[in-house]
Amino acid sequence: MKIALIGYGKMGKEIEKVALLRGHQIVLKVDEHNASSYTDEELTQADAAIEFSTPHTAYNNILRCFKCKVPVVVGTTGWLDKIEEVKSECLRTGNTFFYASNYSIGVNLFFQLNKHLASLMNSYPIYTPVMEEIHHIHKKDSPSGTGITLAEGVIAELDRKTSWAEGDSKDPSVLSIHSKREGEVPGTHIIRYASPIDEISISHIAHNRQGFAFGAVIAAEWIQGKKGIWSMDDMLGFRNANQSS
Ligand SMILES: NC(=O)c1ccc[n+]([C@@H]2O[C@H](COP(=O)([O-])OP(=O)(O)OC[C@H]3O[C@@H](n4cnc5c(N)ncnc54)[C@H](O)[C@@H]3O)[C@@H](O)[C@H]2O)c1
Repeated sequence: MKIALIGYGKMGKEIEKVALLRGHQIVLKVDEHNASSYTDEELTQADAAIEFSTPHTAYNNILRCFKCKVPVVVGTTGWLDKIEEVKSECLRTGNTFFYASNYSIGVNLFFQLNKHLASLMNSYPIYTPVMEEIHHIHKKDSPSGTGITLAEGVIAELDRKTSWAEGDSKDPSVLSIHSKREGEVPGTHIIRYASPIDEISISHIAHNRQGFAFGAVIAAEWIQGKKGIWSMDDMLGFRNANQSS
């Protein structure tokens, strides 16, 4: 498969390694230096684009892929205020868009575990959930996209939480998210349910970026021949599991 890498930073470089190991070819690499000079012809050669750039550049990069009819797998976080616009543009133009706030298979299992635990907790109001996410100091968005997906999972399943906020919230209907930025941490997410007598916590700790890169390359392979809007739940078969539960 021919792949265009849009965003060639920490993730773009990791994705390149995984893609080459899986026998793919990188036909275009875009970063801040050539973002305004690469041509549609260069992008059109690709069977898929994998977009890991910045919160401010993702939207235009995705629209460029739609214009060139190149299926796009997007991992950039922090731009989701525009996702509904992107989805309707994708459907309007007959394109292919895959988005995940986290491409790691382990994190996607963790998303399921999080929802299951939140649903169990409806019967046990003595427990109060709090989320903590820790990332490297270069991360531009806060809370992390993964933290937001986890928070949405809690809100969907736990009746006593209806929204989330960063920092300590005194409102019992708000899920507090504590974001920390430390060293080179690739990504740690913890959800704690505390009661006066004990605490239950679940966590996912990424040891490196390989898991994200592997998931993104697998997604680019998986969308070949597909049209429309796709997610990790579709690829991993969780969508039906969620619908039937
Ligand atoms: N979904 C996931 O699984 C996942 C995992 C890790 C990181 N991320 C997200 O991916 C994004 C990239 O992360 P990173 O660690 O590689 O960041 P990074 O800062 O190392 O790399 C960003 C890259 O984007 C490039 N860039 C800047 N302007 C551009 C433009 N107009 N067009 C194309 N590229 C441009 C920069 O030159 C750089 O190469 C972030 O939003 C991060 O939160 C997502």
